Amino acid sequence: MGIWSKKHIHDLQDEARATGHGTLKRVLGATNLTLLGVGGIIGAGIFVLTGTAAARFAGPAIVLSFVLAGLGCLFAGLCYSELAAMIPVAGSAYTYAYATLGELFAWIIGWDLILEYLFGASTVAVGWSGYVTAFLKELGINLPASLTQAPFSVEGTHHLVQNPGGILNVPAMLIVLLMTGLLVVGIHESARFNNVIVAVKVTIVLLVIGFGFFYVRPENWSPFLPPNTGQTGHFGWSGVMRGAGVVFFAYIGFDAVSTAAQEAREPQRDMPIGILASLGICTVLYVLMALVMTGLAKYPTLDVPHPVFVAISNAGPALAWLGFFVNLAAVAGLASVVLVLLLGQPRIFFSMSRDGLLPPVFGLVHPRFRTPYVTTLSTGVLCAAIAGLFPIGLLGELVSIGTLLAFVIVCSGVLLLRYKAPNVHRPFRVPGVPWVPIAGVVCCVAMMALLPVDTWVRLLAWLAIGLLIYFAYGKRHSRLHQELVGEGPGGPSP
Ligand code: ALA
Repeated sequence: MGIWSKKHIHDLQDEARATGHGTLKRVLGATNLTLLGVGGIIGAGIFVLTGTAAARFAGPAIVLSFVLAGLGCLFAGLCYSELAAMIPVAGSAYTYAYATLGELFAWIIGWDLILEYLFGASTVAVGWSGYVTAFLKELGINLPASLTQAPFSVEGTHHLVQNPGGILNVPAMLIVLLMTGLLVVGIHESARFNNVIVAVKVTIVLLVIGFGFFYVRPENWSPFLPPNTGQTGHFGWSGVMRGAGVVFFAYIGFDAVSTAAQEAREPQRDMPIGILASLGICTVLYVLMALVMTGLAKYPTLDVPHPVFVAISNAGPALAWLGFFVNLAAVAGLASVVLVLLLGQPRIFFSMSRDGLLPPVFGLVHPRFRTPYVTTLSTGVLCAAIAGLFPIGLLGELVSIGTLLAFVIVCSGVLLLRYKAPNVHRPFRVPGVPWVPIAGVVCCVAMMALLPVDTWVRLLAWLAIGLLIYFAYGKRHSRLHQELVGEGPGGPSP
């Protein structure tokens, strides 16, 4: 018991069924959930990282990196689908861990998810600011450099130093605060806004793929798998693996769908659809997009902040008209990623607060908007501060490692529950158990292993801070502990 106590599946299912005052509004159907997933997935990864990863690590074989990373995400996505349909609550991986591994692990994963959602939203907001500043410049509007750059920058690989040219990244802060405002006003309004943006960005991605294919020069794909330079991770198969670790970032976001489980009309049916359909759509788009980009331009030329634009510029004047739309898709697309990640974070805090692991104020629901407004506002302010002060390089890898850890826990959770609670009704079942969850764990651990040692150190430091807070606050206020003390030994366990 104590820190290992687990929440009973049936209690969680009752929690998921609660309706009325003080609960979230159930308005989302399968289409909205799928579009939320796509809104959260397509962003900085495809618009920025593809070029870097192709130029530095994999060459045209970055296409294979996308397939590999997509496969890892598919395994994790199947596991998320089983748990999200079975336990449709807003806490997502945090709650699944509470039911399978116990409170301490649940806390660790809840704390870890801050890296994915809160830091992820900050990272993408910084990317958004870069794109908007460049876009406005092309239109003849020059924003002052000191107000579009963070006061800190990264020197060498991971050393934080003062950036004399920057005061505050104001556009990054603004987009975070705008999206926060929208999320407070309503889930319906947020979903509608996201739907419009998804329509715009998917149309433009399809235009790039469709028109781009006609201008591909097949000689750019040769050699498809450039030989390894002698250094691990620099081209060859190890480069493809390293590339997969980098472009994994492009897939982050499908799991945010599961945090909207308490706002879904029919979560048992629609959670798996939303998670898997959004992942499937984006995987196909990513593979095609990577093929077109590396076919249009020689891969070493793609190491720029706007590789899609550079790729289509290679097609000559015939595709010049697309340039404007590509920038538009990036600006709109990154905004919806910020929105969806900012939707995920408060719902995790909300669940943690309802469980007593965070102060009760974070569990408040707005009486009119029926949104978790206190957590949404506090997340937004914190995220804006991070986005305004820190550079993108420092944040990105931390986001990936945090997300991968969550995926490992979710895949393990499916396995554990199959053995511990085999008879609980599962509206969606992962096929090929135990192999699919095991493959999910292996893929995610392999991608984590490829990340730099510094990132591991930061992850461990972050988790250590989390543990301190748990023992200082969470453990003492845990509602489950209080219930268990009331009930005496032999309390709930799955
Ligand atoms: N997948 C999201 C992006 O690429 C986080 O921006």
